[in-house]
Amino acid sequence: MTSTVPTSATAETHDAFPINGTDYVEFWVGNAKQSAVFYRAAFGFQLVGYQGPETGIRDRCSYLLVQDKLRFVLTSPLGPDGEIAEHVRRHGDGVRDIAFWVDDARAAYATAIERGAISAGEPTVTSDADGELVVAAIRTYGDTIHSLVERRGYHGLFRPGYEAVSTPFVPRGTGLMYVDHCVGNVELGKMNTWVKFYEDVLGFTNILTFDDKAISTEYSALMSKVMSNGNGRIKFPINEPAKGRKKSQIDEYLDFYHGPGVQHVAIATNDIISTVRELRSRGVEFLTVPSAYYDAVHSRVGDIDEDLGPLRELGILVDRDDEGYLLQIFTKPVQDRPTLFYEIIQRKGAKSFGAGNFKALFEAIEREQARRGNL
Ligand code: FE2
Repeated sequence: MTSTVPTSATAETHDAFPINGTDYVEFWVGNAKQSAVFYRAAFGFQLVGYQGPETGIRDRCSYLLVQDKLRFVLTSPLGPDGEIAEHVRRHGDGVRDIAFWVDDARAAYATAIERGAISAGEPTVTSDADGELVVAAIRTYGDTIHSLVERRGYHGLFRPGYEAVSTPFVPRGTGLMYVDHCVGNVELGKMNTWVKFYEDVLGFTNILTFDDKAISTEYSALMSKVMSNGNGRIKFPINEPAKGRKKSQIDEYLDFYHGPGVQHVAIATNDIISTVRELRSRGVEFLTVPSAYYDAVHSRVGDIDEDLGPLRELGILVDRDDEGYLLQIFTKPVQDRPTLFYEIIQRKGAKSFGAGNFKALFEAIEREQARRGNL
């Protein structure tokens, strides 16, 4: 994995809750069959696995999509009852599960519960000819969960019950590699509750904090704390709305998602210019910033390897910290509700999250929010 995060054995030895990385992200959606085509055609994922009635599963369909280290699961209910249908009715399409890859799911689950986590599923062993998979789950903000997935005894495609798919539709990849970070939006006054949850239960540390003065525009504000696990491979910024002259973008999310949930998933690429050009040409919509943003880039971030032309043409943002710089861009929401969106990020040394872009970015979000009549 190409990554800028430290992964030394020493760090892992002292890890209070060892996590190897993101195992998968599962979305509960209204029509997984069509969503799968969107992620394949527009984002360049490959469909590799499936479960549903044809494989003996009666209540749902799930599509397993991969691209490099990314593993996305899209699941829809097959009827009006049950937790998937209820989740979709209430939240619309959204992230249900940010699953952690762990060495020992039973031990991880027991530790998490002992430290105060609420169970979303006791350790369960499933098996097929490829071995045994152990999965448990704990709840986090809203209806979102973290599955704890132990793969050491399993050598199959994904998990028992999924069958491999072969399809003539094999879209070219877009250079998306792995989950860089996942951002949660929680209610006013709840940011520190969830910061404490990740600290106390999962041994994460608070690596960055942004107060409402750092993240405010003329109209609205938010506060954010970034939590990181021991080896740095899992990074969760947690946002809460702050008071501004108008409605915070976080409030708009909370209204339309009907509660806390995942606001954006940031995906790493090694070549953001070609990735974004490809995504745009396939129909992915991005937020844009005024051209004046680029007039000030060099004075703000100094020299960068990339020509300004393509960055300006595509709307890619640049920021610098003590360790290097990063390039990033944000999609518009990927479903009708103004809830989940994606960030595409290329890190060139920087380990931060683009604080220098917050103002320009949030003004872009607010222009969209105003067009929806929600500002
Ligand atoms: Fe982000």
